[in-house]
Amino acid sequence: MEEFILIRNLRKTFVKSGLLGPRRVVRAVDSVTLTIHKGETLGLVGESGSGKTTLGRILAGLEEPDEGEVLVEGTPLKEYLRRNRVKVQLIFQNPDTALNPRQRVHDIIKEALEAAGEWGGSGDVYEILEEVGLPKDIAHRYPHELSGGQKQRVAIARAIAVKPRFIVADEIVSALDATIKARILRLMKRLQGEYGFAMLFISHDLPITASISHNVAVMYSGRIVEYGKPKDVLNAPMHPYTAHLIASVPSLYYGGSRPARIELKEWDGEQLSGPGCPLLRRCPLALEGVCDKSAPELRPVGGRLVACHRPLPPGLPRGAGVGGVGAQVLSR
Ligand SMILES: Nc1ncnc2c1ncn2[C@@H]1O[C@H](COP(=O)(O)OP(=O)(O)O)[C@@H](O)[C@H]1O
Ligand SMILES: [Mg+2]
Repeated sequence: MEEFILIRNLRKTFVKSGLLGPRRVVRAVDSVTLTIHKGETLGLVGESGSGKTTLGRILAGLEEPDEGEVLVEGTPLKEYLRRNRVKVQLIFQNPDTALNPRQRVHDIIKEALEAAGEWGGSGDVYEILEEVGLPKDIAHRYPHELSGGQKQRVAIARAIAVKPRFIVADEIVSALDATIKARILRLMKRLQGEYGFAMLFISHDLPITASISHNVAVMYSGRIVEYGKPKDVLNAPMHPYTAHLIASVPSLYYGGSRPARIELKEWDGEQLSGPGCPLLRRCPLALEGVCDKSAPELRPVGGRLVACHRPLPPGLPRGAGVGGVGAQVLSR
């Protein structure tokens, strides 16, 4: 598959100067190397605070990285954006903050079409509304007159109006009801097939991310800890953090037994400083003298990439928990 975006060794830190607490440096994005293929979706999944939005904002040109390189079709990101700003679109969780409340839907879409040099009259607006499954008459309404799902469709309509090459979709279904979520996901898949854009699909929900992505990257504490095909990552997670993410999702997604379960310890939100694995203080498999010595690099294992000194076996039977068959395998 042809590469579209190449991300190499990307870093971004923030200084949090809490009025009460001490000043802290947060490594929001830490040594991230990833590829997004042309016309494909890379799913980026992790708990809140793991750095997903920061990575998405860097790729959309809204945040400057401290270190590292991003190439889009071989061109440095900055230069690419200078020439193709409008071809990179962001869609957020909350369409209310993204849509101008004083603009009718018609004008929201019109503005996007104009920005892309594609404006040919109101017929274009109706056509795009139809593309995203909205009736014509929506065009003359204001965002506050629409449901959450309809507003998100308007935000999607605005993004595709410019015939984007790349979309950053940041938690775009997180605030929606389950049935609406599924419809929006199907819509994004269909639009991608039609328009051929590449997408970074950001979510805290692994099954949802897996359902729409060609590849999935699991992020923890600014780092990518597992990367692979959705079915591998979802059915047989090899990184303890991925297994933890899956275990925290209701089992109805699986229609049966769950994959290997790992109980991670609670996280106080503090990043680990020091040489060890970022997951050290939470991981029940952490081994003294190994996991506290160095942060594991992302390396090929079990048909994917895993950053763990003690990855779970890829073929661990489904449903084998920490206390079951899995325990013997795990404490090898
Ligand atoms: N502008 C900012 N200033 C200070 N800290 C920030 C800023 N943006 C993000 N962070 C911090 O960086 C970390 C990653 O945040 P974020 O990228 O929003 O994660 P996610 O999207 O996975 O929830 C968090 O600790 C967050 O508080
Ligand atoms: Mg976020």
